[in-house]
Amino acid sequence: MIKKYIFALSKLITVSLLVSISFSRCTEHEKKGKSIHIIPLPKEIKLQNGLLSVQNAFSIDADRIFENERELLKTALTTEFNLIEDHNSILIQFSRDESCDPDEYILSINKNNITIKASNPRGIFYGTRSLIQLMEMNKKQHEIHLPICKIKDWPSFKHRGMLIDCCRHFFEKDVIKKYIDLLAYFKMNTLHWHLTEDQGWRIEIEKYPLLTEIGSKRKDSTGIYEGYYTKKDIKEIIDYAAKRHISVIPEIEFPGHSQAAIASYPQLSCTGNPIDVATEWGVFKDIYCAGNDSVYTFMEDVLEEVIELFPSPYIHIGGDEAPKTRWENCPKCQKRIEDENLKDEHELQSYFIKRIEKYLNSKGKILIGWDEILEGGLAKNAIVQSWRGMNGGIEAAKHGNKVIMSPTSHAYFDYSIKTTDLKKVYEFDPIPKDLDSVQQKLILGGECNLWSEHIPNEDQLDKMAFPRLLAMSEVLWSYPKERKYTSFLNRVDKHTELLNDKGVHVGLDAFPCEITTAIDDFKNPLAIINPGRSELHFEYQWNGDSSTTIIDSAYKVPLNNSGQLRIIAKKDKKTYGDPVVQHIQLHQGLFKKVNYNTNYSNYYKANQELTLVDGQLGGKEFRDGDWQGFWNTHLDITIDLEKETLFDSLSVHFYQYINSWIFSPIEIAFNVSNDSVNWTNLGTIKKEEHISKRGKMIDEFAIFNSSKKPYRYINLVANPLKVIPDWHEAAGNSTWLFVDEIIVK
Ligand code: ACM
Ligand code: ZN
Repeated sequence: MIKKYIFALSKLITVSLLVSISFSRCTEHEKKGKSIHIIPLPKEIKLQNGLLSVQNAFSIDADRIFENERELLKTALTTEFNLIEDHNSILIQFSRDESCDPDEYILSINKNNITIKASNPRGIFYGTRSLIQLMEMNKKQHEIHLPICKIKDWPSFKHRGMLIDCCRHFFEKDVIKKYIDLLAYFKMNTLHWHLTEDQGWRIEIEKYPLLTEIGSKRKDSTGIYEGYYTKKDIKEIIDYAAKRHISVIPEIEFPGHSQAAIASYPQLSCTGNPIDVATEWGVFKDIYCAGNDSVYTFMEDVLEEVIELFPSPYIHIGGDEAPKTRWENCPKCQKRIEDENLKDEHELQSYFIKRIEKYLNSKGKILIGWDEILEGGLAKNAIVQSWRGMNGGIEAAKHGNKVIMSPTSHAYFDYSIKTTDLKKVYEFDPIPKDLDSVQQKLILGGECNLWSEHIPNEDQLDKMAFPRLLAMSEVLWSYPKERKYTSFLNRVDKHTELLNDKGVHVGLDAFPCEITTAIDDFKNPLAIINPGRSELHFEYQWNGDSSTTIIDSAYKVPLNNSGQLRIIAKKDKKTYGDPVVQHIQLHQGLFKKVNYNTNYSNYYKANQELTLVDGQLGGKEFRDGDWQGFWNTHLDITIDLEKETLFDSLSVHFYQYINSWIFSPIEIAFNVSNDSVNWTNLGTIKKEEHISKRGKMIDEFAIFNSSKKPYRYINLVANPLKVIPDWHEAAGNSTWLFVDEIIVK
């Protein structure tokens, strides 16, 4: 096709002429004062000298197949840049280039026009996202000066997703649309929409109206918490997403996380007993009965309506965290195990998933499930989403199945920034080294997950998603070798400004500081501030004093007393994040040697051998780095005070949050000795009533040294609950003990 170019040179000013062409990376562009702050970092950029000045007006010339992309760009240019469409003005041209891969685009900012080439609309769309980012970065008041350049770009991974959990908390349609726009802006391509849960069923199913009438509502402190999407809402979202080249994958959970469905139709469970939609967070015992044929009918009916709505070739069916307690005690489930010659309840889960898979495949759809679907045998064509680390994904790929990686270590954006900061996400590599090159090709990509138990509203959603989504986008799109964190952070700072201007509440990129403790050369204790990022300055306060003290570049705070140390971080004179508060307890055991007779878990190492004697007390969040976890074992440790020491009391802190299987101990013995051979029991504390308490709490166990004698060695033995009571959701009898400081006063 012959294109007609019309240039109105009065509106298009080439500031300087092309002088040289060179390949370069963004860091170098930045040095030259040109802003190519695109995220994700493009694969190839040829930067030339000179600028293209865009003022007032534009026009877009596009083949008919690019009409949608033309329309979207036109809307952005008129609404966000206040430009006027004028066919006599500067021309942006979309053209078809069959040599491009399906997701590839070539964007050229020339001295008097802009072209985007691609083989299909998706590539053109990605080109327009880069163009819009360039325009935003290079806009000063009413003028836009674009660097003359050529960008050739394509993604590294096919699957670039984000999960939004709309069940624990419900997000209105407009919030979902905003997120679709933001995903598209950073060239992500998948919204994984988590629609059914224990705490709420959020998708209209005509054949089972009680799923939304009953299942979308739960009791909470304000009365009733509710919300669901009608079929019309869902179609609107899917259309909106499709225009922006985002595929929407629904997640309908089987067989676990199904309490809201069971509350609506109790006959779906093993017991048939009426239950409420869950009001607590956690994992629940009541799941779909795998022995009951009407459950499979229900499942197929629901999926039929879901398939009708969602054009995605993939349907996510969950499969995670399904306790087998009910199945173990259900005659129907046991009969199914016998009839189908299955080994155990894990094989029954596999049977269940394979039945869903067969149904989905018969409708031309592919099943995605969490890595638990590996247990008891993997369905043939299923895609495994690996969340409990990368191992599930590795096993699936070795099996020949396709994989999406979203390990809790890097991809769980509901975790605090202290646990998973921007740098950590940026270090994510979805390709495990121990796969061969054929198996590596089965890794489709990655996904960041925003579980919403602790995300009650849009502002909090923004703070958890951003800026970490930018790191995920770059991990999944750009060349790993080209990724440099400092250059990325520089671009993130620019995007943060822009996102904030657009009303996105961007959270922190790093926790302001880690606090460690030590003893100086004169045996005085001190706190050491470890900055979360280099540009920060710090001040501190003790016990809520009104005055603050500036911390110098040695980052040390003398510890003269026990109490609350509050560190305030500043970036560019503005407060950076909330103050970091650390409770400090000075005592006679500080920095003494601790021997572990039982081992702490690698997942909750805290400050390792110093955890119990570092003077830092764990707070209300069990992942705060101060709590040390012991999985499925008692705790037995000994402190050597180095010399016989007279103390008045001994105390120790334990954490309890039974929704996460963390129980306070039921028996604690404090033993003392002067030779570490002959031991005396100084006191034993037994209590059990506290273990049924819900919520997050810290338990202190203390005894007095009634002997009034000095001792050198202190031994602590804490025994956990042996049998988890029936009222608890946990399957099995494994529990956590979470311990912190042993205070020798
Ligand atoms: C999950 O986080 N339970 C998949
Ligand atoms: Zn059953």
